[in-house]
Amino acid sequence: MKILVTGGAGFIGSAVVRLAISRGHEVVNLDALTYAACLDNVASVADAPGYAFEQVDIRDRPALDRVLSDHRPDAIMHLAAESHVDRSIDGPATFIETNVMGTFNLLEAARSYWDGQGRDPAFRFHHISTDEVFGSLGPEGQFTEETPYDPRSPYSASKASSDHLVRAWHETYGLPVVLTNCSNNYGPYHFPEKLIPIVILKALAGEPIPIYGDGSNVRDWLYVEDHADALLLVLEKGAIGRSYNIGGENERSNLDLVRTLCTILDRMAPKEVSYGDQITFVADRPGHDARYAIDPTRIRDELGWRPSVTVEEGLEKTVRWYLDNRDWWQALLDRDGVGRRLGRAS
Ligand SMILES: NC(=O)c1ccc[n+]([C@@H]2O[C@H](COP(=O)([O-])OP(=O)(O)OC[C@H]3O[C@@H](n4cnc5c(N)ncnc54)[C@H](O)[C@@H]3O)[C@@H](O)[C@H]2O)c1
Repeated sequence: MKILVTGGAGFIGSAVVRLAISRGHEVVNLDALTYAACLDNVASVADAPGYAFEQVDIRDRPALDRVLSDHRPDAIMHLAAESHVDRSIDGPATFIETNVMGTFNLLEAARSYWDGQGRDPAFRFHHISTDEVFGSLGPEGQFTEETPYDPRSPYSASKASSDHLVRAWHETYGLPVVLTNCSNNYGPYHFPEKLIPIVILKALAGEPIPIYGDGSNVRDWLYVEDHADALLLVLEKGAIGRSYNIGGENERSNLDLVRTLCTILDRMAPKEVSYGDQITFVADRPGHDARYAIDPTRIRDELGWRPSVTVEEGLEKTVRWYLDNRDWWQALLDRDGVGRRLGRAS
């Protein structure tokens, strides 16, 4: 299959690109190369036959039309987005422009391309979204695909809007779409402004390891390579118009997660005192959702998918990767805003 992957130079998109190429698919990687992108993430497949890169912004409709007409993909996997909640608090406009208007442009370009190729029923538009569209849970319960949307940050509101657009393009125009909403990803090539890489890099630098609020916020953690595997499965086997929640079956409070990371670092990169001593509690993020949890029944029962690693196994692999790939993350630490506290809405 020839797959157009948007956002393929980002964290999850690059995992999808690497896995798709390794499984023999052709891939067109379309990415604007924002601050969050890194072409090193796909260096291992850049010379593979069947790989092509297009530096294109999804806000640029004529460029999207040109890419679709040049490459004629069988499917689109749409991951390009502004993805950092803290940045969405400081500057929501880009999130609306890329996540809402960019998705609208891509849907329109896809619809025109699909109409032009005779509305092939095998064509797919796979929209990749987040569990954050469902809002915040109390101590009990899980998000199912039927949970009403209740986004609470500019980021999640922009992703919720894009999900609605994708469903509307299916209902109104018949575009063959599938959607996925997944929990927090972690793993290799995670940009160093997100929680897990921040913890590892602050720990290694001997600096305070920041925890927002009291660290009681609970997230479900999904290893990025498991996520990429689930995404390709949904693309190939998911029912048209259906959405699938993808979770790691690994709920942890932020404080537990950080403590686990410190314990792994104590073992893999020992020093005189424990890395846990560097944990520091800082002012919470405004509107910080208390708990997210995914009910993965649909993807498990209908498509037979479940995660391959526990969070402990995935975190071990991740810490090992950061210890072995200092050149990758050192180069990113100078980028705009990285390492600075963002998203305090003050
Ligand atoms: N990271 C997570 O835990 C998580 C969880 C659930 C869902 N998601 C979703 O998965 C997708 C990928 O997330 P990620 O963590 O890999 O994000 P990321 O920030 O690492 O990568 C996003 C990529 O999109 C590109 N991009 C941004 N704006 C663009 C534009 N206007 N045109 C073209 N390319 C543009 C960037 O250059 C970057 O390469 C997003 O849609 C996100 O909402 C992420």
